[in-house]
Amino acid sequence: MTDITATPPTHERPWLDAALPVEERIDLLLAEMTLAEKVGQTHQVANIDPDADADEIAAGRIGSSLYASGATAGNERDEGILVGNIDAAQRHAVEGSRLGIPLLFGRDVIHGHRTVAPIPLGIAASFDADLAEEIGTIAAREAVVDGVAWTFAPMVDLSEEPRWGRVAESLGETPVLSGRLAAGLVRGFQGDDVSDPDRLAACAKHFAGYGLAAGGRDYDTVSVGENTLRNLHLRPFKAAVDAGVTTVMAAFNDVDGIPMHAHEHLIRGVLKGEWGFDGMVVADWNGVGQLVNAGVAADLREAAAQAIRAGVDLDMCSGAYLAHLEELVESADVDLALVDDAVRRVLRLKFRLGLFERPYAARPGASNAPTPETREVALRAGQAAHVLVKNDGVLPLDASADATGSVLLSGAFVDDGDALLGTWVLDGRGEEVVTPGPALRERLGDRVTVADGRFSDVTLMQARAAETTVLLLGEHRSRSGEAQSVVDIGLPPGQLEVLRAVAALGKPLVAVVYTGRPLDLSEVLDLADAVLVVWHPGTEAGNALASVLLGEVEPHGRLPMTFPLSTGHIPTSTHQRPTGRLIRADVDHEEGRYIDALTYPRLPFGFGLSYTTVEYSAPTVSTETLPTDGWVTLSVTVTNTGARVCREVVQLYFRDPVAQVTRPLVELTDWALVDLEPGQAREVTFEVAAEQTAYAGRDLTTRVDEGEIVLLTGPDSARLQPVSVTVTKKDS
Ligand code: NOJ
Repeated sequence: MTDITATPPTHERPWLDAALPVEERIDLLLAEMTLAEKVGQTHQVANIDPDADADEIAAGRIGSSLYASGATAGNERDEGILVGNIDAAQRHAVEGSRLGIPLLFGRDVIHGHRTVAPIPLGIAASFDADLAEEIGTIAAREAVVDGVAWTFAPMVDLSEEPRWGRVAESLGETPVLSGRLAAGLVRGFQGDDVSDPDRLAACAKHFAGYGLAAGGRDYDTVSVGENTLRNLHLRPFKAAVDAGVTTVMAAFNDVDGIPMHAHEHLIRGVLKGEWGFDGMVVADWNGVGQLVNAGVAADLREAAAQAIRAGVDLDMCSGAYLAHLEELVESADVDLALVDDAVRRVLRLKFRLGLFERPYAARPGASNAPTPETREVALRAGQAAHVLVKNDGVLPLDASADATGSVLLSGAFVDDGDALLGTWVLDGRGEEVVTPGPALRERLGDRVTVADGRFSDVTLMQARAAETTVLLLGEHRSRSGEAQSVVDIGLPPGQLEVLRAVAALGKPLVAVVYTGRPLDLSEVLDLADAVLVVWHPGTEAGNALASVLLGEVEPHGRLPMTFPLSTGHIPTSTHQRPTGRLIRADVDHEEGRYIDALTYPRLPFGFGLSYTTVEYSAPTVSTETLPTDGWVTLSVTVTNTGARVCREVVQLYFRDPVAQVTRPLVELTDWALVDLEPGQAREVTFEVAAEQTAYAGRDLTTRVDEGEIVLLTGPDSARLQPVSVTVTKKDS
């Protein structure tokens, strides 16, 4: 083991002078580094071990660690992932290595750390970027206590393929919603200044096109043209970059034959060049090594050369850079400037994070267990994720003091906290989740019977005895997420049988659907009197559900992905484009595209009900013409015509009827969250800039066309009223 010596004074390490500009500090440090030390900075290991890896760290051969967590605690292993002793590893780097460059500790903190918010798809259902920011803020505050400096979130892969398990991690299918929520999460994770000790570096992933994996099979090939990439899939990444995200992760997939870890055009050309991204690009797990499996590199040496040329700065776990970059530079197969650029970006992040000033994470006495304050945010987020997709009047359940009707709560998730945390939760604990059973019992006392979570004949007997049954259906958290794709988006085996049997009793039936993806809910929607889609809501799952069921809060989530009619209808999304055979959104269900089924979605993007009714006026505009650099004010009046308060998500879409390339029939461009008292009417205004209609044309450059634009407002993507404006030449 290497001796640990005292930190040298600043004059011996001039880059430690925090008063100098970051770029100057990087120059000073780079000038001191050997090629081997530079390569060390581009190498990330999994589960760094302060004992076993001590010599490698001290030799400057490791730049970053993945997964390790826990500043000073234990050094125990939890499911193979090392927890504890981050600072012991850091000490070898800071005090034991020649240049004292701190390690960077990354970990997947995706939708919460100890306090878990809904899965990202549930966060997206809130349509609330401020809420996303709050979630990110809390996650960061909790994660830093465990020594985490960098999270691999947000995932901004546009998701229109429900078979793909990773839609659970996504922010939905549309660029503007995904981009704004990603920006909110980035603001939450990183704050105004990522060197704030309570913040983390964020990572927009997976660049790019991963959501288009063929057949929804995880990691599969992607066939997409650059026009579609630019007009859809790259946009949320651009939004994250504009929001200041400090890192971007390369995607596992190829794009039209070129694996993303070797995609020089998209990473070095578009992301770093065209967009001017000066942050760090990290490989995905063994993504560099997988260039060999993909058959585009003969061996790890070639893989390393291709990835560094493409612009991948930090090699996650493949070891290809560590093993080969030095020799590749010495043999002039790779230009040293490429390695310098990668190292500069790694160091830039470390300087930006303040790691040179504050390398150690220990916070004696600090706890990151959920508190009333963090639980309050998780509860609001859980409630906001609840999407009411059917209600024949059975909801809200009567919660008044003199109410007597008995309620049966049954189904797989009544008391399974772990199941409700959702995918990618490394630190949240199932036992800290408020589950539906206790939450409902607390509110309804003896009126509620909580079944034991197994469907059985006893359930049916209990349902017969109860006035209303609330059936918890859907997916366990382990059924969505990475490498959890399915061929059939129906409910998991056995659940429909129970639903049918309970429905046959003819009593009020509420179906609650926990899920990480859009499911085929056709029969659920037919048989249940009310249906709530609630995703995986996290730590406050039970309280969120009980409060919505009983009307303590109004459901106001909206679907961030289209729910297709069946598995066979995939793909279907709000980005459907016109073809030579006209599809008119309003009559498509009559014309059909299949001979054996209709083609409209079962539940459209943006859909969600509340416990009241809301009417929309036709939209009006302040002016019918606007120059390409101008804007127009659109107004629409929404009226709460029912007897309960609500939070309406007033949605604004547009259609560009004539463009250089096919454009979506409708595309979400803005929305407003509007609170309405019973009977209240409010005028909602949107400032719509002609620029919002910009798109990549035939030559792939961004353009705003003159001509008609149809603006459409309404409660979801299928119930819209139009108004036209004409974009004219820029005023000179
Ligand atoms: C693989 C996943 O694709 C990525 O999203 C994740 O951040 C890394 N593994 C690290 O866990």
